[in-house]
Amino acid sequence: MPGLRIAVVNQKGGTGKTTLALNLAAGLQRRASTLVLDADPQASISQWAALSGKSGQLPAVQAVAQDDVCARIAQGARGHRYVVIDCPPTLRTTMVGDVMNNVDVLLVPIQPSPVDLWASMDITTAVHNTRQRNPQLKAFAVLNQLDNRNVLSRLMHEALAELEFPALRAGLARRAAYRSAAVEGTSVYGLGHRGKAAAHEVEALIEELLQS
Ligand SMILES: Nc1ncnc2c1ncn2[C@@H]1O[C@H](COP(=O)(O)OP(=O)(O)OP(=O)(O)O)[C@@H](O)[C@H]1O
Ligand SMILES: [Mg+2]
Repeated sequence: MPGLRIAVVNQKGGTGKTTLALNLAAGLQRRASTLVLDADPQASISQWAALSGKSGQLPAVQAVAQDDVCARIAQGARGHRYVVIDCPPTLRTTMVGDVMNNVDVLLVPIQPSPVDLWASMDITTAVHNTRQRNPQLKAFAVLNQLDNRNVLSRLMHEALAELEFPALRAGLARRAAYRSAAVEGTSVYGLGHRGKAAAHEVEALIEELLQS
């Protein structure tokens, strides 16, 4: 059976795509062989992996170019149980269109404010259009940078309802561990006890995703 192909997308910058992609991939790698494809010309996830050196704690990361992204996704899914693709902050390039047409699941990290959510609304149209060509495509919002003060506001619930695809129950809190992991070239799993709470929520997200 070909591997599960998961892309992390949002045309808004800085919503946590790379953070989610890397920690998700690190958690998946603990279950089965996982490949990360870096489709972002900013190459943040490749730089993150380069920082980890040869510690072997992060899954393999390969940069992909627009002209071979479809082939690389297909090849990755033949050789690995999971393929995670980190996308640049746009929906308008051929690269991101090709990625969306060639995956099983889209994860859309969104910060829990209605303003951020409204800035992410183009994804609703993009998912709708992509499903014409890729009808099996699943899409989920992932709330990122939740803090324990923010019980989701009524406005946020209304804005989420406009998205037309569901949010996973599991989200990621705002935690120093996510930033520390990036600086140290590891994932929250690699931080030991410092990353325990974060790893716990990434695990909950993975379990929910794999059961969806
Ligand atoms: N849950 C979190 N807790 C704390 N910091 C976070 C969290 N998620 C992301 N960050 C931080 O927010 C910043 C932006 O995150 P990230 O680079 O993952 O976003 P991005 O969507 O990939 O950005 P871009 O659109 O530029 O690719 C980074 O400094 C990252 O460490
Ligand atoms: Mg990024």
